[in-house]
Amino acid sequence: MSDSGRAIRNDEEGPIDLIDIARSQTPHALFERLRAGGPVQRTASGHWLVSGYEAANSLLRDRRVHSGPIAERYRRALAPGAARDEMSFRINFLDPPDHTRVRALASSAFNPRRIAGMAPWIAAQAARLLDELTPDADGTVDLLHDYAHPLPSRVISELLGVPDADRDQLTTWTEAVTPLLGVALQPAEKAAGMAASESFAAYARDLIAQRRAAPRDDLLSALVRGSPEHGSLTEPELMSLVVTLYSAGHRTTRDLFTNGLHRLLADRAQWARLVAEPALVGSTVREFLRLETPTLYVARVAAEPIALGGATLGTGETALVLLAAANRDPAVFTDPQRLDIARDEAAPLSFAPGAHFCLGAALARLEAETMLTALIVRFPGLTPDPEKPPEWRHRGPFRGLTHLRVRPVA
Ligand code: HEM
Repeated sequence: MSDSGRAIRNDEEGPIDLIDIARSQTPHALFERLRAGGPVQRTASGHWLVSGYEAANSLLRDRRVHSGPIAERYRRALAPGAARDEMSFRINFLDPPDHTRVRALASSAFNPRRIAGMAPWIAAQAARLLDELTPDADGTVDLLHDYAHPLPSRVISELLGVPDADRDQLTTWTEAVTPLLGVALQPAEKAAGMAASESFAAYARDLIAQRRAAPRDDLLSALVRGSPEHGSLTEPELMSLVVTLYSAGHRTTRDLFTNGLHRLLADRAQWARLVAEPALVGSTVREFLRLETPTLYVARVAAEPIALGGATLGTGETALVLLAAANRDPAVFTDPQRLDIARDEAAPLSFAPGAHFCLGAALARLEAETMLTALIVRFPGLTPDPEKPPEWRHRGPFRGLTHLRVRPVA
């Protein structure tokens, strides 16, 4: 533990530690308090919280931070079984050379040509889901349940070759497994996560065995096959990648879209502007990423002492890079708490620039932009339902809404 940096104190509400972040229903208020105390601060439990944009951006891109020690911690903390395997070989907890190999194979699935080629199919799915919306007796629909969830779920299932009929089951497992990725895990969450992980892993192994026996022209068959250039994946790496891609592919994209839309619908002037200027859909999604990113933080471990924002991270110390806090840093963004769909400032850190930059970033953006475009064209008079406001729900590092009930007005 290095002795530089200040321990976090707040005279009114006490020191902030990991448990507060894990349990907070209002994390942005917490982040504001943190940032006010400096961009990099140490908690009483000896972790670092990075909330300033410059410091976060620089640490994420710093080759002196590793992710492997996080996998190592899961290896020690979890009993032998699927959850331990999944976390130990998870792509975002790998370091070179394993990370380089796994990422090279996985990225072939997300090359820009392949993603752009999916655009018409994604647009057709969005149109179909809007066609099928069936308002309740009160004239409202739940856009999270009937639109923002099924679209990314269909897209990633199509990519991986997961049958439609299995999607609900996989979603249920994802919800249970996700808290394992958070900090200050509760015993009940841990038990539920480990049980769901066993089922999810068994499913992934079965899918992999099917592709091994009868390869198809799809992503999973390509991952199973490997390549002469990049080598191949081990069985646990493959299993972990299938689970990661499935979970990352649908939940975060759903929450990015719904979180952002919730903000946009509350600001009628901004909504009207987007309806009038659909070309702003790209910068609107970028603003969704900045203001309401579903991934609040990622963790990194210093492999050697790193001077950052007036502090020094000691070798082996863990930093939580608070992406959501950095995205609202007033030193970088004008009036940072405000939604501005035409904002043209620094890039949000939501996809974690650096070695682990989100592999699905282009696909997630395409899906969100497609969903938004289809929505404003079909329902320019869309309004939120004031009777049933949504609540925030937190799972591990992820933040999303319980539902988004709206009145679909053409
Ligand atoms: C199509 C949807 C998506 C897919 C398939 C996907 C997939 C992935 C994969 C495979 C990684 C690991 C990359 C690596 O370690 O080298 C990753 C990392 C990441 N993704 Fe995504 N992702 C998607 C959407 C999103 C969205 C919407 C967000 C948030 C706005 C997001 C945020 C992140 C972050 C923050 C990381 C870094 C994680 C870390 O360093 O621990 N992803 N993503």
